[in-house]
Amino acid sequence: MVKLFKGNVINPKSPSELEVRENCIIAVKNGIIDAMFDDLSSLPEEYQGIKIEDFKDGIIIPSFTDLHIHVSQYVQRGVGMDVLLFDWLNNYTFPQEANFRNIDYARTIYSQVIRDMLRNGTTQVAPFTTIHYDACDLFFRMLEESGMYSYMNKINMDMNSPEYYVEGTEESIAETERFICEHSGSKWSGRNRLIMVPRFAPTCSDALLRGLGKLADKYDLGLHTHLVESKAEAAWSAELFPQYGSDGAIYEQCGLMAGGGPKIFAHVIFPSEVEYELLKNYTTYSVHCPISTNNITAGIMPVSDLMKRGLRVALGTDVGGGHDMALYKVIGSAIQSSKLKAFYEENYSRIDLAKAFYLATAGGGSAFGWFGKLEPGYHFNALVLDGLQDDGFELPLLECLERFCYAGDDRNITHRFIDGNLIDPDEVFSRISQL
Ligand code: GUN
Ligand code: FE
Repeated sequence: MVKLFKGNVINPKSPSELEVRENCIIAVKNGIIDAMFDDLSSLPEEYQGIKIEDFKDGIIIPSFTDLHIHVSQYVQRGVGMDVLLFDWLNNYTFPQEANFRNIDYARTIYSQVIRDMLRNGTTQVAPFTTIHYDACDLFFRMLEESGMYSYMNKINMDMNSPEYYVEGTEESIAETERFICEHSGSKWSGRNRLIMVPRFAPTCSDALLRGLGKLADKYDLGLHTHLVESKAEAAWSAELFPQYGSDGAIYEQCGLMAGGGPKIFAHVIFPSEVEYELLKNYTTYSVHCPISTNNITAGIMPVSDLMKRGLRVALGTDVGGGHDMALYKVIGSAIQSSKLKAFYEENYSRIDLAKAFYLATAGGGSAFGWFGKLEPGYHFNALVLDGLQDDGFELPLLECLERFCYAGDDRNITHRFIDGNLIDPDEVFSRISQL
């Protein structure tokens, strides 16, 4: 089935080039972009007669990929922002995440999370959930219903966690294997894929990490965890696992890098040469979550240094360390944070809008396949933006995008598409809150 859309396209062609195509017609065949035309007269015969959905002055951009968010921390947005990571985890996060043992609580919160991601234009996500099998199963089924794409699993933690929110080692491994077996195969859409999600080394025993490593190998799965997030975290990991020598080496030597999927590492703020080598040797995504790492005073990822070394970088909200669900706000924050880093560090170079927008779309999207660009072959997962102009003064298209990333909100997103289908966040909410 072919659909035709028309509008002003902004495409993240490369980290250094934002391509603008005014009044462009996009032909979408079975959810995938088939061809793009700059004027009606070049429309080939096969598309003539098909109604064009014309967004007029609207700006069409790829939808966003949030490659690191704790969906179970939704109610913590903007709360408990005056403490450092460990106090924040112990005093706010663990008590709150423990509530997800109650499936009704999970349903109430998770349906709002999905609605809010869609409202803000996120259609691909790598979520952290909680340790609870049933709540994770519900979240998976909600994602299936929503049309979104994800990499997920239950999370794992068997030590340095409060007694009301911790698992036994064997139980954690067994429940993870059950989750993998129950959520793969032909009864599911294939859009929501599995990955291993140990919280981070300090809350996982060596035996747990090795058990999960065996599952990663057996089921050919990638990894999603936190890596060198703060100086305190890296030091604690080194103290708990002296035999491995660095935060990154723990995951590698426990076998968690052996599977075939992407290896997603949140934060990567203090990578040593060992981490840089490891990030280079596997299909890794280092996820920059500047709103969060400012809030919990963890530091600023050296994005430019990672990119100069040819490493893949993506953006994440890291809600609830991050207080905002909107990836476009993370774009603005990533640029601001890089300016501060460059201001205080002589040899650091800042990033600009083209680079930050690329990371939020094509950068993270590539973890899922052909996502995050508006070019033939890519999924038509896209947003239409409007309402970014003031009366009496005309902003060029690229500056409208820039304004959106600093001063926009979800009212500027007039349409959201997944695989060429129009998505209504409120309609999705009404369905998933019944699951
Ligand atoms: N490290 C371990 N758990 C967490 C978490 O929930 N949030 C953040 N930002 N870092 C973590
Ligand atoms: Fe996180």
